[in-house]
This record gives sequence, structure tokens and C-alpha cells, in this order.
Amino acid sequence: MKIGNIEVGNLFLAPMAGVSDIGFRKVCRMCGADLTYIEMVNCNAIRFKNEHTLDLLRTEDDEKPKVVQIFGHDADQMAKVCASKELEQFDIIDINFGCPAPKIIKNGDGSALLCHLDKIEEIVTKCVNATNKPITVKIRKGFKKNDNVAVQVAKLCEKCGAKAITIHGRTREQFYVDYETIKKVKESVSIPVIGNGDVVDEVTYKKMLETGVDGVMIGRGALGQPWIFSLLKHKEMPDKYSIVETHINTLKKYYDEKYLCTVLRKHLLWYIRDVYDSTSYRQVLANTISLDESLKIIKKAFEKQN
Ligand SMILES: Cc1cc2nc3c(=O)[nH]c(=O)nc-3n(C[C@H](O)[C@H](O)[C@H](O)COP(=O)(O)O)c2cc1C
Repeated sequence: MKIGNIEVGNLFLAPMAGVSDIGFRKVCRMCGADLTYIEMVNCNAIRFKNEHTLDLLRTEDDEKPKVVQIFGHDADQMAKVCASKELEQFDIIDINFGCPAPKIIKNGDGSALLCHLDKIEEIVTKCVNATNKPITVKIRKGFKKNDNVAVQVAKLCEKCGAKAITIHGRTREQFYVDYETIKKVKESVSIPVIGNGDVVDEVTYKKMLETGVDGVMIGRGALGQPWIFSLLKHKEMPDKYSIVETHINTLKKYYDEKYLCTVLRKHLLWYIRDVYDSTSYRQVLANTISLDESLKIIKKAFEKQN
């Protein structure tokens, strides 16, 4: 598929706050992900050059195309950020109209904007006009339980110049993904549509593809198993241990060990979630404060599994 003039494959890693770090994105690409989003970044924080936010924008040279996701509600500020030096390295800029987290919606950002289509129109139009880079959007079915504004929002974003739409096919309170809505979104626009929600294996991947979407985005299905991309693409999977090692070594280039032991722990626990006797490995890992030691435990756990 093409996003603007950029040719990309059809399997994407979702933006996930606190999860899609530079190392995780790298191993997902190693396993076959075609596009790996940086987690959502706050436009205000970029404007004020917040150190932590600027750190989230770090990418590696082989991360191509580079895609960042921004959130906010002030169209003028968001447009300025799209044209800013801080986003210069990115090839694609995605706007978050889907996040349901209370701390985001209380400021009128993320999915709260699905109740204010005039704001969405203003934001997309101004961001599109501010840069030559493709602007894409990530939406969900609606804000409240029974809302369904997806088709309306998709058409509006296309009219305003968005170059692709990711649709997470459920509202915040809905348990199941609504494939019918995803299908309708695909049928209602001519820009690429990426389907998202509950893709965890071949069966759910095929179900998503049956909606006619151009691409599929995977979030939780990749946690602890970036190799899901290899499995879905039927391509040879890199060795699991070397994946974990690459994840850790990539992060080690930028962060100190103490910090990493904390931020990496959740990933490491996910990696061994499905190994035999995972509980005992998890207990040891949870108390380990050295990365080398963690790697040894993971190696042992994987060896036992083979
Ligand atoms: C830990 C976590 C963090 C997330 N952070 C973001 C984010 O930064 N931006 C965004 O658009 N969606 C975010 N999401 C939503 C995912 O991108 C995705 O839309 C959602 O998880 C549904 O896809 P899945 O069923 O494949 O997980 C997050 C989800 C999770 C689980």
C-alpha cells in the first residue's frame, strides 16, 4: 500500500505507550513488521521540549519509514509541531483520535475528539497544510459505548487530506471488535485503511483481512511475541533468544542498566509468559537487577521450552 508517496507493506506494530520502545520496535521489524509506530507523544510536551518526550522521539537509522503519533486538541499548536524541527526525521505523522485513557480525554485529546468533529476537521486540515509529509489518523469506533462515528470521521479525515486511516473497531467499553464497522470504513474512503483490534494469530488476522482492509495493525498480540509478524508472514522466525538479546542491546546503547532493569521488566516477563514452568522463571526475573542475569534466565527458560 502507499501512504502518500511512501510504499509500505501491510503489517504494522501499533503505537503503545510504555511498550513500543526503540528496542521493541527494532525486534518487531526484525520479525517482519513493516511499520513500527512511536508511542503517542504530547504536542504540548514537544513544544516545551520536555526531556522525556524528546527521548521518546529517538529512532535508529534502519527504522524506515519512520512514523510518529501525536496527540493534542489545539489545531494551531499541533500544526506547528508537525512542521517542527523535532519531527523533522519522521516520514509519516499520525494523529491520535482514539486514546480512551482518562488522563488524555480529560484534556479533550484522543478519543474525546470523536465527540467534536469540527475540531477533528480543523486539526487534520491544519496539520495537512503545515507539512508535505503524509498525515494519517488513528480512530476508534466511537467515544461512548453505543457510539459509531467511524465512517463519518473517516470520510471527514479523507476530505481534509489524511493519507490513511487506522480504525480500532470498538468503543472504549466494548469487548469485541466490530468487523462490520471496519468493513464499512474501508468501503467509505479511497485512502488506505488499516484494521486494528484483537489480532493475535492467523485466524484473527484472516478475519481482519476479510473486512477488505489494506493493512493490519497489531498491538497486544505482539507483547512478548514480536515473532507474531514472522508467523503471519510465513517467513522464517529469528531465534527467540537473539530477539530478546537484540531488544536489550538496542536499549543498552541509550539507557543505563538501572533504568533499563525497571522499564524492561514487563517485556522480559511477557517473553517467558508461555514457557514451561513460567511462574518460577517469572519470580526469579522479577527480582533480578542485572540485565546479564536476566538474559541468562531467559536463555534457560527458552532452552527448556525447546
Ligand atoms: C499498553 C498500551 C498502550 C497503548 N498506547 C497507545 C498509543 O500510544 N497510541 C494509540 O493510538 N493507541 C495506543 N494503544 C492502543 C493500541 O494501539 C491498539 O489500538 C489497541 O491495543 C487495540 O489493538 P490490539 O487489540 O491489537 O491490542 C495502546 C494499547 C496498549 C495495550
